[in-house]
Amino acid sequence: MKPILEINDLKNLARRRVPRMFFDYADSGSWTESTYRANESDFQKIKLRQRVAVDMTNRTLKSQMIGQDISMPLAMAPTGLTGMQHAGGEILVAQACEEAGIPYTLSTMSVCSIEDVAEHTKKPFWFQLYVMKDKEFAGNLIDRAKAAGCSALVLTLDLQILGQRHKDLRNGLSTPPKFTPNHIWQMATRPLWCLGMMGTKYKTFRNIVGHAKGVEDLSSLSSWTAEQFDPKLNWDDVEWIKERWGGPLILKGILDVEDAQMSLKTGADAIIVSNHGGRQLDGAPSSIAVLEEIVDAVGKDVEVHMDGGIRSGQDILKALALGAKGTYVGRPLLYGLGAMGKPGVAKAIDILRNELDITMALCGERDVNNIGKHNLYRK
Ligand code: FNR
Repeated sequence: MKPILEINDLKNLARRRVPRMFFDYADSGSWTESTYRANESDFQKIKLRQRVAVDMTNRTLKSQMIGQDISMPLAMAPTGLTGMQHAGGEILVAQACEEAGIPYTLSTMSVCSIEDVAEHTKKPFWFQLYVMKDKEFAGNLIDRAKAAGCSALVLTLDLQILGQRHKDLRNGLSTPPKFTPNHIWQMATRPLWCLGMMGTKYKTFRNIVGHAKGVEDLSSLSSWTAEQFDPKLNWDDVEWIKERWGGPLILKGILDVEDAQMSLKTGADAIIVSNHGGRQLDGAPSSIAVLEEIVDAVGKDVEVHMDGGIRSGQDILKALALGAKGTYVGRPLLYGLGAMGKPGVAKAIDILRNELDITMALCGERDVNNIGKHNLYRK
């Protein structure tokens, strides 16, 4: 096997090990994918300021997000269907994050449930919620997250309506799954993946099936899900959720200064500058392109985090330099998971950690908390 040196190596390996419809599900954006691509490519436009002859001993990446200690300013973003990249995927990613000392965020649309992940981890993880029409179900999810000891609720605001993803439609990825000969062929050519799936009990949306009223199997799940995302979502819903939850709240999907200012009124603990990894509004700016103006507008009053397009430690440093207190990755850890299961996730985190550490040193910084605009080369 070729050495694994960067996130792209894990991506290439995942492409060979995960059935195409699920690899494409992760590796895609909406419509023309222009925002998806810009999330990555806009990082390349930002240049770092090299410094020399600075004492580089005793470096530290330790930091905090929403007051919680973390080993580096990085968290796992919520990703639906993680358990389709690898059997038991959510549990494996959560465990790798726990061992690495970074937060793991479990998606509402995950395969393993809140309780499954809690049973297999020791430390609290974060839970991501979509605003749903079925308030009783959403309230129950919040209660279940509380009972499982989740230490933050990440409320996603940018998916009132689903952005169209051509790859998923072309691959026939739907709930309930309709297996075509092509799907069976895709799976048959990934024998390790198939073996894992055959041996696991985690195969459906376990946060939802058996919990939401009338959703007892994949077929009833399909019609239920189609109705659940709430096109009427508004800031009052955020208030309601904040009250019911009562703990640290992070608002995800903020890409505009006015929305960032609105979110201040909710008293949230943090906002995530995010465009859902380029999976929603195609044509929107990349997250890194709008980060600075949002930090300038609200950064004094609320913690600002960001995600979208981070593929290296250099990217993390650039986001921190532009004012993010913390960053998240989605696909990089999914590629690690698809490539090699839990060791692949650990490898992805290690790659990002080493790149951040060395890049920080080459910028003349020893403490990740001191990174700022002075680390950027700007004429
Ligand atoms: C996501 N994302 C996402 N966000 C969310 O709030 N709830 C979810 O269930 C999902 N599901 C999901 C699935 C997959 C396969 C991907 C790739 C992404 C968006 C995610 O949290 C995050 O915003 C992006 O993944 C960040 O971009 P990168 O790091 O993947 O480039």
